[in-house]
Amino acid sequence: MKRLLLTGGNGFFCTRLTKTYQHTYDILSTDVPQLDITNRDQAMEAFHQFKPDYVLHAAAVASTDFCNNNPEIAHNINVKGAQHVAEAAKAVNAKMIFISTEQVFNGNTSPGPYREEDCPIPDTVYGQTKLEAEEKLRDILDELWVLRFTWLYGLPERNCGMSPNILWDTLSAVLKGEKIKVTSNEYRGLTYVYDVIDQIPKIFEIPYGTYHIGSQNHLSRYDVSKLILKEVGLEERIDHLLEMDLEKYKDHPRDARLSNEKIKTYGIGFADTKDSIKKCLEEFKLKI
Ligand SMILES: NC(=O)c1ccc[n+]([C@@H]2O[C@H](COP(=O)([O-])OP(=O)(O)OC[C@H]3O[C@@H](n4cnc5c(N)ncnc54)[C@H](OP(=O)(O)O)[C@@H]3O)[C@@H](O)[C@H]2O)c1
Repeated sequence: MKRLLLTGGNGFFCTRLTKTYQHTYDILSTDVPQLDITNRDQAMEAFHQFKPDYVLHAAAVASTDFCNNNPEIAHNINVKGAQHVAEAAKAVNAKMIFISTEQVFNGNTSPGPYREEDCPIPDTVYGQTKLEAEEKLRDILDELWVLRFTWLYGLPERNCGMSPNILWDTLSAVLKGEKIKVTSNEYRGLTYVYDVIDQIPKIFEIPYGTYHIGSQNHLSRYDVSKLILKEVGLEERIDHLLEMDLEKYKDHPRDARLSNEKIKTYGIGFADTKDSIKKCLEEFKLKI
């Protein structure tokens, strides 16, 4: 069995990854208590003890607001922490997946979907730290896959981490009886977390490099929330539950979509957001 070390192991992505592959890989899932990535010595020790074949580096501070308000902490974790993990991976010859983000393109003014060759212009601390980490890691490691994820979504599960996502945010507003205001001026790839997780083993088979990962989506954020409500049988209540926000991003619609054409050439494909939302709701028996 190949040994896989995870950082950010308690988070949204890695808890589901561990659950899925606990019998496929020998997994060491680490988070702050076991391996604080800002501590280089701790990283070296953990890697020398476990001797992973692969490391999937998911630990990060991923909140845009938190990063903007705490740029030094964000840099320490998202950049220096990533460097420590890459140096430790190199020391034991482990191959590394680094999870980056669509947010490296959030300052680009040309419309998406962005391809891997497009020059990213991040305009948030989160996006900037992720892009800087990508660059630093390429200098440290040759055996590196940089995966830029679109915004993932999923539903709560036993003992799994959660992070804000369009599906659960929309459904929680319904549960709380709150009307939510959603922008019609934002376009993002929205990807079912298991559409990524199910294909992780295939990543280890493709050439090292940078890849855009996730669903294509031509719907605005408002239209996706509307679709979710329709699919869970609340179509007649859409006007009571959802308000279209025409003001946000009015002067310059936000477009952070990624093209998944490159990864598709390696047999790793994604349903578009509309179909994947239906699939997710079906899997969780929530489709009415
Ligand atoms: N979810 C998405 O939609 C999405 C989209 C694009 C990219 N990504 C990237 O994908 C990765 C995983 O995302 P996610 O949604 O699973 O994030 P998450 O739920 O926030 O998980 C990140 C984990 O990293 C941990 N962490 C923070 N600082 C650490 C440190 N110093 N040492 C070790 N661990 C530390 C966090 O612990 P605490 O909670 O205790 O701080 C948390 O458990 C992240 O790198 C994120 O930037 C996610």
